[in-house]
Amino acid sequence: MALDTTPAPKSKGVIFSGMRPTGLLHLGNYMGALQNWVELQNEYSCIYCAVDIHALTTVETPQDTADIQPNIEDMVLDWLAAGIDPEKSIVFVQSRVPEVMSLHTLLSMVTPLGWLMRVPTFKEKVRQMNESEESVNYGLVGYPVLQTADIILYKADTVPVGQDQVPHIELSREIVRRFNNRYGDTFPEPQAKLTEAPLIVGLDGQNKMSKSLDNHLELAASPEETARRVATAFTDPQRLRRNDPGRPEVCNVYSLHKLFSTPQEVATVYEECTTAQRGCVDCKRHLADNINSFLEPMRERRREIQGRPGYVREVLEDGAKRARAIAQETMQEVFQKMGL
Ligand code: TRP
Ligand code: SF4
Repeated sequence: MALDTTPAPKSKGVIFSGMRPTGLLHLGNYMGALQNWVELQNEYSCIYCAVDIHALTTVETPQDTADIQPNIEDMVLDWLAAGIDPEKSIVFVQSRVPEVMSLHTLLSMVTPLGWLMRVPTFKEKVRQMNESEESVNYGLVGYPVLQTADIILYKADTVPVGQDQVPHIELSREIVRRFNNRYGDTFPEPQAKLTEAPLIVGLDGQNKMSKSLDNHLELAASPEETARRVATAFTDPQRLRRNDPGRPEVCNVYSLHKLFSTPQEVATVYEECTTAQRGCVDCKRHLADNINSFLEPMRERRREIQGRPGYVREVLEDGAKRARAIAQETMQEVFQKMGL
């Protein structure tokens, strides 16, 4: 395997993005982030990271701890199956480049506590956990500082994220500005690059697709399993009998058709649903077929990768080496600028 120390230079800048290792990914993760990551590989030098240290902010039980390693492997296998190419991009696990923890500590010296306590995701988390701001872990308050360290350790300038992460990237920019002001120009101000992905609603027809709500379709599921789950999807609640005309505009099966079926097919679904010529069972089977065709290339690549035992681990080791070489260079500069 190639052992370059830097990603191949591309016409545009350096991309960094990360995902917490939650295990097997679903269609919402793919449409919302992964698909975009794959495309960006051709224009940017990309660095993709499984952020296991960030995952520790929500560990509570021994099971949570035991899940981390298998979750990393499952997630990275999904990345590779989706088309993340280790020849084009650096793929690694956050904790394997421990320099990020040093940079996190040093950035905490230029980050006012008030900035962190105002971050909406922090306030939300405190509310969710039913704790006071006084009792939550110090590490949780510093979550966006660690995220900033992730990005700027590689002097990345572009960060593909969803809307919910924009306040974090704004904060990264402020931390960078402060650092550069105090210690001299060192880091580029990272820019969020919003993914213009359609929000994928889950099989319950109500909420964003998510593993915790069990309304998701896993990328790794078999065609049969996928069809079985699609068959459970909620449809137009007012369509009680086969002869009732349906309302595609309130049916999530229809919105999924818009993503996975051809415009021609979508028009047919609309026509046949509103005139009661199509039943929901057939409509879902049709959708499942199209989703399965969409997922087939990923399944093929997954099979290939699984036929090479140890491959994922090898990719991650190589990625960590390449990432670490960049990180060490940055840290040398940071130590020197900060007078250490
Ligand atoms: N906070 C991000 C999330 O929850 C994950 C993340 C960690 C990240 N470090 C990052 C995203 C750096 C982009 C860049 O989704
Ligand atoms: Fe939804 Fe299709 Fe049933 Fe119409 S026929 S209500 S689009 S599942």
